[in-house]
Amino acid sequence: MEIRLSDVPDWGYVFQEIDQVYRLGSAGGSTIIRSHQRRVRETISKIVKSNPYYTPRQPENKPVSAHWGRALDLADSGPLANLSRVLYRVESQLTWEYGYQKVPRELAKRYAYCEMMGPQGPIQAEGLILGLVLFAPGTTYPQHRHDEIEESYISLAGAWSENDNAVYAPGSLILNRSTQHHRITVGIREPCLLAYAWIGPPERLTAPEFRFSKLPRRQI
Ligand SMILES: [Fe+2]
Repeated sequence: MEIRLSDVPDWGYVFQEIDQVYRLGSAGGSTIIRSHQRRVRETISKIVKSNPYYTPRQPENKPVSAHWGRALDLADSGPLANLSRVLYRVESQLTWEYGYQKVPRELAKRYAYCEMMGPQGPIQAEGLILGLVLFAPGTTYPQHRHDEIEESYISLAGAWSENDNAVYAPGSLILNRSTQHHRITVGIREPCLLAYAWIGPPERLTAPEFRFSKLPRRQI
């Protein structure tokens, strides 16, 4: 039997909440960020209106999933609490993965991401990926870039930094434009949960290259 988004309303609420964040969140005066926010929410609304297919994937956890509960608890008292509450309802359907063929052993214990909407599902879409990335306390996510893909992170829980530029709190939006190198560090006390949006050509989103810009200095 074909299952559509309208048959799995909790997923619809997840995207409704993400759409709200991109709709109501400030662009901080940046026209580039404002146009990214607009592109993301216009694409979400086009996809949701088409009532896309729901193709369940095999749920999977990774070692960092042990921090999921704490991350959601923190998010629950933050500015994105409505999103964190609906994430509790879909948590058993999430497929956590690494993306990279070779993940440094230390990173494999501390990081994973899951896709919620995109070419791999579970909600089928082209031109946009919406997902979550979870980091354990004290993680350094090595420098990397995404060619032809514009990426934004929205912070749900935890304190983190990108390229040592600032400390971002829940509710912050960070835009990484195509080919821009970025490296993430996470505070040592709490896990960090980010929602991300990737927007780019469908063929690139179907087969994104997960590649670090250079190998971490020390592979443990
Ligand atoms: Fe990235």
